Amino acid sequence: HLQRAINEQSKNSGKNMTSLIKILKNFFQESLNSSYPQLSHCTVDVTPSTKITFGDYQCNSAMALSGEMKKLGAKTAPREIAQNLVAKLPLSSSEVIEKTEIAGPGFINIHLKNSFVLSELTALITKGVRPPYVGPTKRVIVDMSSPNIAKEMHVGHLRSTIIGDSISRLCSYVGHDVLKLNHLGDWGTQFGMLITHLIEKFPNYKTEMPPISDLMEFYRESKKRFDSDEEFKKTAYQNVVRLQAKEEDYYKAWLLICHESFKAFNKIYKYLDVQNLVNRGESFYQDLMKDTVEMLDRNGVTEIDEGRKIAWPTGEKGQGVPLTLVKSDGGFTYDTSDMAALRHRLFEEKADWILYCVDQGQSTHFDAIYQTAQTAGWYDPKEKRVEHVGFGLVLGDDKKKFKTRSGDTVRLQELLDEGLMRSEKKLKENNRDSVLTPEEFKAAKEATAFGCIKYADLSHVRTHDYVFSFDRMLDDKGNTAIYLLYAYTRIRSIVKNTNLSKEEIEKLAANATAESLPIDHPREIRLAKFLLKWPEVIETVYKTLMVNSLCEFLYELAGVFTEFYEKCYVVEKDRTTGEIVKVNTHRLLLCEATANVMRAGFDILGLQAIDKM
Ligand code: ARG
Repeated sequence: HLQRAINEQSKNSGKNMTSLIKILKNFFQESLNSSYPQLSHCTVDVTPSTKITFGDYQCNSAMALSGEMKKLGAKTAPREIAQNLVAKLPLSSSEVIEKTEIAGPGFINIHLKNSFVLSELTALITKGVRPPYVGPTKRVIVDMSSPNIAKEMHVGHLRSTIIGDSISRLCSYVGHDVLKLNHLGDWGTQFGMLITHLIEKFPNYKTEMPPISDLMEFYRESKKRFDSDEEFKKTAYQNVVRLQAKEEDYYKAWLLICHESFKAFNKIYKYLDVQNLVNRGESFYQDLMKDTVEMLDRNGVTEIDEGRKIAWPTGEKGQGVPLTLVKSDGGFTYDTSDMAALRHRLFEEKADWILYCVDQGQSTHFDAIYQTAQTAGWYDPKEKRVEHVGFGLVLGDDKKKFKTRSGDTVRLQELLDEGLMRSEKKLKENNRDSVLTPEEFKAAKEATAFGCIKYADLSHVRTHDYVFSFDRMLDDKGNTAIYLLYAYTRIRSIVKNTNLSKEEIEKLAANATAESLPIDHPREIRLAKFLLKWPEVIETVYKTLMVNSLCEFLYELAGVFTEFYEKCYVVEKDRTTGEIVKVNTHRLLLCEATANVMRAGFDILGLQAIDKM
């Protein structure tokens, strides 16, 4: 298995970057296997240094390994283990590691060799920014956005859309085959309710629908009647049955309602540049539900409880919250639709990974769904990654759930429009309107507005709540999209100032060799090392699905670049004439590489990189 992975990796070597952490880890693992064969079942860990003075990376495994030795009945001090690990490093490691130091109880500080950094940098420049190799291509399904038809798409759905889109982009970037599914709430009693109300209040319902805002008002009214008027409730239930039987008038009305809702959703997806999102809501799984319940019967996980059919997730009665698969009136539920969807995704779509970007409030539901499926023998979590990618709430300034002043849910369309307005104001404050052409200004305005909204979301630890604040997300000095977009355009303009054409620069990059890159200034080296973290950052995000690590990396990169540029001129000009006397090619190529890494990051975050701002 391992050999196959290695072969595949070397076959791909041009297509991928290798993370330095992985290279170092392999050295230390090899050393462990030879110095302590009795511990070869243990793995060593290498992490980035916490402080520059401690070197570039560190291996802190000696302490844990000493504990493992103790388990085997041997007393070995961590420091001794660290010494042996260093002593037994394979010969080839000397091409990568300049020196190591053992600090404190047994921390191993690792300093990289400049010649190695240079050769890796050369590969980055000549071959471009590439993803790390993460294994063979996988079929990944991302359940994302998933608003409810005829209802307002709220900020929770905005988070799901932004996070889901970014995770999809990441999975595509590393080479997976991604299917983005919009699991719309488009089926159920509420439509019987709404249609019943429309029949009275909007007689044209068979041929046309009011716009979404009116539809939502109708929805609210129908809900009120449903909760207070027994007669209405009865009719609503009858009409759900008619809709489920696809009786023409009811089905057509439902289609129209969906159509009207999509118009509103699609506008938002267009703003946010969300592409290839496949609408496959609860209604899609209707016909599969009966069969799914029967399958669960056969799997032996269902039981009858007071007229309902339920399933205990672990198979153990009383453990956790049971799923309700069939209600006592014979109807199916949200649980049933998610079991049917999971089954379809596993067995029809043959997904290897299924990621559900849904707010954390639904974690009990998803735990129960996944657990039940495992108990039923549908999949083995060691082979398939079926995971709830949960996220926290969006809060207002008052630290309470984000609402309008009157207490209503915030309309996303209005929110995005306000973003546009505010970004326009911000750019005008910075006099961008006098520098840019109208088209450039428009591009900058949109990239800033939507970029800032996305970035504010993605840069927070997704499982935490965060406060939505336009002022903060449009602060061009903070950790924001506008700051990064400015940093990016600045690098592009530095490159442009060399007066070299795009083709000339490409040629320089393609022909770069380690010898032609006289990189020796400490800030050049620091920038080079930082750029080479790209594959390790991608690996981390890929493993944890925590996109904020990528945001932190880009933000830090902008800082490291600034420090580099303060001291290292790219273009040297004649003081009196202003004429270019020298272009430092190696620095120019460092600028290019930085911009390219940033751009690759923007692509994953869904930010629009613009050359002029
Ligand atoms: N429509 C649901 C809601 O708005 C979210 C659906 C999430 N996806 C799923 N497979 N249940 O809360």
